[in-house]
Amino acid sequence: MDIRQVAVIGLGTMGAGIAEVFARAGIGVVAVEVDSSALNHGLGILDSSLSKAVSRGKLAASEQAAIRARIRPATGFSEAAAVDLAVEVVPERMEIKRQIFAELDRVTSPAAILATNTSSLSVTAIAAATKHPGRVVGMHFFNPAPVMRLVEVVSTVLADDGVADTVAALARRLGKTPVQVSDRAGFVANALLLPYLNHAIGLLATGYASPEDIDLAATAGIGLPMGPLALLDLIGLDTSLSIMEVLHAEFGLPRYAPAPLLRRLVDAGRTGRKAGRGIYDYGAGNYGGGNHQDRNQRAAAATGRDKTGNGVGSGAPETVTLIGSGDEAETALATALASAGINVTRNAAHPTELVLIAAAAGRPVLPAALASGRPEQSVGLNLPQDVALTGLRPGTLAELIETSLSSDAAVEAGAALAARLGLTVVRAPDRPGFLVGALLYPQLADAVRMVQDGYATATDVDNAMVLGCGYPHGPFQLIDVAGAATVLAGLKSMYDAYGYPSFAPPPLLAEHAAAGIEFRTIGHARRDPARTPQSPVASG
Ligand code: 3HC
Repeated sequence: MDIRQVAVIGLGTMGAGIAEVFARAGIGVVAVEVDSSALNHGLGILDSSLSKAVSRGKLAASEQAAIRARIRPATGFSEAAAVDLAVEVVPERMEIKRQIFAELDRVTSPAAILATNTSSLSVTAIAAATKHPGRVVGMHFFNPAPVMRLVEVVSTVLADDGVADTVAALARRLGKTPVQVSDRAGFVANALLLPYLNHAIGLLATGYASPEDIDLAATAGIGLPMGPLALLDLIGLDTSLSIMEVLHAEFGLPRYAPAPLLRRLVDAGRTGRKAGRGIYDYGAGNYGGGNHQDRNQRAAAATGRDKTGNGVGSGAPETVTLIGSGDEAETALATALASAGINVTRNAAHPTELVLIAAAAGRPVLPAALASGRPEQSVGLNLPQDVALTGLRPGTLAELIETSLSSDAAVEAGAALAARLGLTVVRAPDRPGFLVGALLYPQLADAVRMVQDGYATATDVDNAMVLGCGYPHGPFQLIDVAGAATVLAGLKSMYDAYGYPSFAPPPLLAEHAAAGIEFRTIGHARRDPARTPQSPVASG
């Protein structure tokens, strides 16, 4: 079926972005809103996106006019009578969706495909309420729609043959990559992304780490384009809360229970960037501008904890006792300390200013701190990325591990020392996974469970996270690089410490670890650091 005319129902941020995507691909768009004020607002979003593209030299002014001419604004459904496809992008409330689909049933030809961009409601329930459920599919775009390349195409048990394939082919025509899945809460990307965001806000609420450090651990440690808290603000805390509620209703596990802080911020009207305030404050002059680091530096945090470990390195100790297990991380640290002109000894009996314990995932710092006899002067330093592959370069992320006996002075000295070595520092407690692993391991477990459940392939999962959420590497690429055994050990340590079911290592991961098989082939990338995904989980 050739799709030449589409209707986009609802011109909020997502709807305007989706209308832009269709029109850019040469497809005529009927853009429907409830009234002229909503319509003008939506067209304003679209126009400013196109104008931005022109001003950045990404789009010719003549093309802007041509794209705009393909968009026919409408405040009623009758304009949508002749379309080949209608995409509903209205708020996530079933009663509103049902009204829209009833209107579409009334005006469109039975051959037209009806799609919903729902991120959380059941596509099956939406389809079942229509006259021709076989033509209803999910067509789920990602925010910002003009940029993110994933479209999840969701079929239901009611779908006619070929409908999902037609929509997938259309997605390719739009320059997107479709991932075809059946109807399950959160599909692929949201079912993996949202629990991770929820976990991150849960860590924030317990004071596990500062908001800046949580976001920095994700960007500098895992290479993600945005930290989880900044991303919650982008998606909207209210939207995120409703997705978590749906996931919780479907899967039941405690991991899916919305974090109380998420709910409280929504109650308070702090719904994210669109409200000017969410976890961060996007007050006058700050709204949406700058990259995550600028924003983090400017932002006032939700909890008032805004310490970061980063400084200029002043106050760094001149004499350090370095304790480690002789692994690559310790060797890299010893070399870096020596090059920075710091006096290093391995003997804890020497009266140095700081005991630095080269930490490793799955090995708590406290036993080594106690063994040194100077636990109050001891901190750990963990290098979550595989330093054997990348070396200790300026900006490399280091987790500064505070034990419950570390003094404030030792923590400050450790932060100053790491800054002097040119490292980017986040502070983390001496708990399994520290900060990067605590954020990452449970998401990797979720990804393995999704494949174990037969819902998606490892390639689909990786594509979804790379193309829908801007991950530099998919979860399975990360597991393959770090080694399933390393991820398994990390998860086991978290599960042993907390006992949460979602930290329980999935059997499929244990099988891969035991057999030493990769989840997907990544060719020779491992031998070429420039092309190899940097593992945020140092292997070993
Ligand atoms: N509309 C159109 N284009 C936009 C845009 C927008 N809202 N925001 C950014 N862009 C474009 C810019 O113009 C730029 O284009 P260019 O490369 O052609 O010049 C490009 O995107 C990169 O933008 P910036 O340089 O300004 O900023 P960043 O490099 O920091 O990238 C980002 C911004 C693309 C948002 C990136 O941070 C990212 O990928 N973040 C992750 C977003 C994500 O995870 N989205 C999924 C959320 S979940 C979801 O949507 C599902 C839903 O159901 C909840």
